[in-house]
Parts: sequence; C-alpha cells; structure tokens
Amino acid sequence: MSFSNDLLAWYDRHARVLPWRIGPHDTKRGIRANPYHVWLSEVMLQQTTVAAVKAYFEKFITIWPTVDGLAAAREEHVMAAWAGLGYYSRARNLKACAQIVSGEFGGHFPETAVDLRKLPGIGDYTSAAIAAIAFGEAAPVVDGNIERVVTRQTADATPLPKAKSNCTAFMVRETPKERPGDFVQAMMDLGATICTPKNPACAICPVFEPCEARKAGTMLDFPVKAPKKAKPNRKGAVFVLIRSDGFVWTVQRPHNGLLGGMAALPTTDWTARQDGATGVGSAPFEARWTDVGTVKHTFTHFHLELEVWGAKGDTPESEGRWNEPNVLPTVFRKAAQAAQKMGGP
Ligand code: ADE
Repeated sequence: MSFSNDLLAWYDRHARVLPWRIGPHDTKRGIRANPYHVWLSEVMLQQTTVAAVKAYFEKFITIWPTVDGLAAAREEHVMAAWAGLGYYSRARNLKACAQIVSGEFGGHFPETAVDLRKLPGIGDYTSAAIAAIAFGEAAPVVDGNIERVVTRQTADATPLPKAKSNCTAFMVRETPKERPGDFVQAMMDLGATICTPKNPACAICPVFEPCEARKAGTMLDFPVKAPKKAKPNRKGAVFVLIRSDGFVWTVQRPHNGLLGGMAALPTTDWTARQDGATGVGSAPFEARWTDVGTVKHTFTHFHLELEVWGAKGDTPESEGRWNEPNVLPTVFRKAAQAAQKMGGP
C-alpha cells in the first residue's frame, strides 16, 4: 500500500463531519462540494480554528446562500458578520472576490489553482485547497497541520518557514490524481486529530509505518520553527458610550491598516510609531467618563493594553453611529463588556 492509499482508507472510516465538507462516501457517489462553500470555509480557516469557524460559516451561508448574494451585500454588513473572526482584510477581500466571481464569471469560480490564485484574498494555500477539494485538481496543499505531518514523516529538521518548500514537494509527490480533495482533507484531519502538536497518537496512526520521526521517537521535535521575535507592548485608551438599550457609540476605522473598515470604539492611537495618550483628557467628546479598568488583547505583531473609560448617554456631537457590541472586533467587545459592568445611572 502507498502513503495515499493508507491515508485514504483511514479517511473513509474517520473523516470529520464538517458543515462545508462532502464526506468520502458521498464524494464516491459523485456528489461534488459546492465551490462557494469550499472557498468561504477555506478563507475563514486561514489563521482560525475549525471550532471557531463553524458558526460563522453557517451564519454566512444562511444570510448569503450564493456567491451572487454575497457580492450584492453591503460591505458593512459583511464586516459586521465577520466581527470576531479577526484578520479583517480577509473579509474585505472576500467581498471583493465575490464581486469578481459574480460580476465577471457569472457566479462560477475558476476551476484551476492558477486561475483561482489571481483572485483577491486567494494565495498559494487557498487556491490549491479550493482546486483540490472543489475541482479535483491534484494541487499541493500545505497548511500548518500538513507541515507538522510532513516534517514528522520525513524528520525534516529545516526550520519553518524554510521547510515549507520541502513540504510542498512532498505533497506534489504524494497527492494522488484520484481523490486529491479527500487526500488533502485527510492530511488536515490527521494533523488535527492524531498527529497533534503535543500528544501525537502514533499507535493509531494510519501512516505510522513510514514515519521517520516516529521510528526515532522524535515526533515532538518537529516541526522545527525559527525563533519568534518578541512582540512589543502598546498602550492606549478606549471610550465606551453606552445608550440605555445597550448599544455603544462607534466610529469606522480607516480602510487601510489594522482592523481596516471595521466599526470600532473611539480610541487614542496605538500605532507602532507612538503609543496612545491615556487618561480622560484624550476622550473624543464630553461625557461623565468613569475609569472601568483595562483590557488586554494580542494582535499578530503586538500586545495591546487599553485603559477603558465608560459613560452612559445619548448621541454625542461627534462623528459616528450606534451599534450593537457584537458587530465589533474582539478587542472592542472586550472593552464594551468591561464598560457594561459599570454601575450607576
Ligand atoms: N483546515 C483548513 N481547511 C480545512 C478543511 N477543508 N478541512 C478541515 N480542516 C481544515
């Protein structure tokens, strides 16, 4: 038996049931995955766990059942539905991509990795994953789970991200022409359920035999990662004006930059150049501001600590609009939650 045969035989029995996935039995009966579902799920799954993505995926396909529907949606609705998933440029690109697929390709996604790669928000990983899963192309897919499985199989001590090209070469070699979509999803499932970071269950692994790290007992040494740079700490202040119905006063963030285009609470700067001012003196408008403590949040490149000022009140004389806290990015939801706990009238 080959690597792919052993893995596919395991996938036939143990594939995870996921809302965007056509299981191996249905795939064999000729049922094809919906390219819109595959694209949407793969964009959501970049940098985000399966557990976190499930509810967002269901919400999106309920509100926008087709790519044409998503293309026609207002950008602020898409951004609000994405709130909490993070990496917000993905949501802007999602909308831009839907508009191209709907407007230029009649609602049909391109069917090859090369053509998919030309669309906004679709890089090497996503183009290969969609081509393999939705269109049956034997495109080499490499994500974090697959890097772990492959560097263990081959005991490849090259540090990531350099090891990635070796992983791609492995996938080019091993991805079968038959069932490439099932194969890449099997690799992902193996990484998520058996070849896990801390406690790999080698005793029940379908590709135990050829695994070089397992033979040497060095599974936990892989993947080797280049040392991470320490993240700097940034500071700022955030101002939460709460209306009697629980809505909060929000502003829109500039389109480019962190959390670009999202509804946000008014804050001071916390850019790399300059930590924001703190204290009630930096409030954007007058209100009976109360110090309600601090919240912390970690972004890709820095840790942020925000001093939170809360007040109750009606529409201020300032640019903005009222919003429910749950349409805000997580950092601002945390601040709104801290302010909701404030006592008094
Ligand atoms: N992670 C990223 N894409 C995935 C998929 N299609 N199935 C399972 N896990 C994934």
